[in-house]
Amino acid sequence: MDFQEISEDNNEEQNQNNPPWLKIIRKDKTFGNPVIILRNISKDYDLGGEGQVHALVDINISSNSEYYPVLEGELLMLRGPSGCGKTTLLNIMGTFDKATSGIVEIMGTRIDTKASDKFLANLRLEKVGFVFQTFNLLATLSAFENVELPMLIQNKLSKKKRRARTKKLLTRVGLGDRMDHLPSELSGGEKQRVAIARALSNKPNLLLLDEVTADLSTKGTIHIMNLLLDLNLKKKVTMVLVTHNPDLEVYADRILYFRDGKIERQVINTQQTALNFKEYMAFLRETENQMVKENDNEKNDKEKINLSQTSDSFNDELSDQESPNEVSFDDDDFSSEHNFPNQKKKKNKIRNRNKNKNNNNNNNNN
Ligand SMILES: Nc1ncnc2c1ncn2[C@@H]1O[C@H](COP(=O)(O)OP(=O)(O)OP(=O)(O)O)[C@@H](O)[C@H]1O
Ligand SMILES: [Mg+2]
Repeated sequence: MDFQEISEDNNEEQNQNNPPWLKIIRKDKTFGNPVIILRNISKDYDLGGEGQVHALVDINISSNSEYYPVLEGELLMLRGPSGCGKTTLLNIMGTFDKATSGIVEIMGTRIDTKASDKFLANLRLEKVGFVFQTFNLLATLSAFENVELPMLIQNKLSKKKRRARTKKLLTRVGLGDRMDHLPSELSGGEKQRVAIARALSNKPNLLLLDEVTADLSTKGTIHIMNLLLDLNLKKKVTMVLVTHNPDLEVYADRILYFRDGKIERQVINTQQTALNFKEYMAFLRETENQMVKENDNEKNDKEKINLSQTSDSFNDELSDQESPNEVSFDDDDFSSEHNFPNQKKKKNKIRNRNKNKNNNNNNNNN
């Protein structure tokens, strides 16, 4: 059994009042109170006279939904195809954007349309770190000044401590030698890492991360993900992380899959795992070799078809007796979703494993 239940026998009355997500206590990790609750969240964008985009449709991440609230200490991953609403939802969670309808609660504070900009800015400054998909670094400030800025605004640390922390953060994301560079003098991956260091500067309770590894090398991706996992486990920082990379699912406690502005399904991972660079590279290399092999096979098959077609017509002219070469196709050859058959197998393994664990969990909860 991968999940433990709080014994219902011990305190039946209390458990009757408890929402089901309270029963979820993992062997190696305990979650705290809800950090984000969303009730009936919808977001529409008006396109002038050209109708509306329904970016989010009645999203419930709450105690009376099967998708339970984002819990303190949880690393929640949001996945789904481009345009399914991940950034829109993250912006609403971070109070950068307002829902068209519905209720948002962040760390026990109900955010409604009356919340003032000053109140929201303060909440973000004190509690929330955000890494935007587009980085949003201030172009005229150096990497150092970008990271230092939230601490400067918060004004809680002495100049010496602030500068020491800025240096430490930039070094931790591997940019100790790029501190004086302007954003325009940094690569995409370097900008992304500055944005991560900036998000960490005020020691947030909640980190919202939009595609934080999209511009990083494999090594950079693992470095940053391991840093985030470390913060999540040791400092209990709650995280909501959007990614297109399925191989990163192993880092999550829970994955919510979105499609067309709705949650399609939820998978609970019972064991957060850090990728090991060497092993992961070996896996990627094996995947690539496999892909080359499959491409070669496909090419050979195609050549066979061409040959057979040529010889067919040639044979047709000469004789009707010879049968053409038989060519069979695997279903996978037509899959448009994955280009890496081997990786697909591994992904499926992870998904199936997670699915089974999820089922276990559901069984435990029932
Ligand atoms: N300001 C806007 N005005 C109109 N439509 C918008 C606006 N912002 C987002 N949308 C639309 O809302 C939908 C959800 O967009 P969103 O950026 O949340 O998707 P996403 O899942 O983050 O995609 P990606 O993976 O490409 O980043 C898309 O159809 C998008 O075109
Ligand atoms: Mg997005």
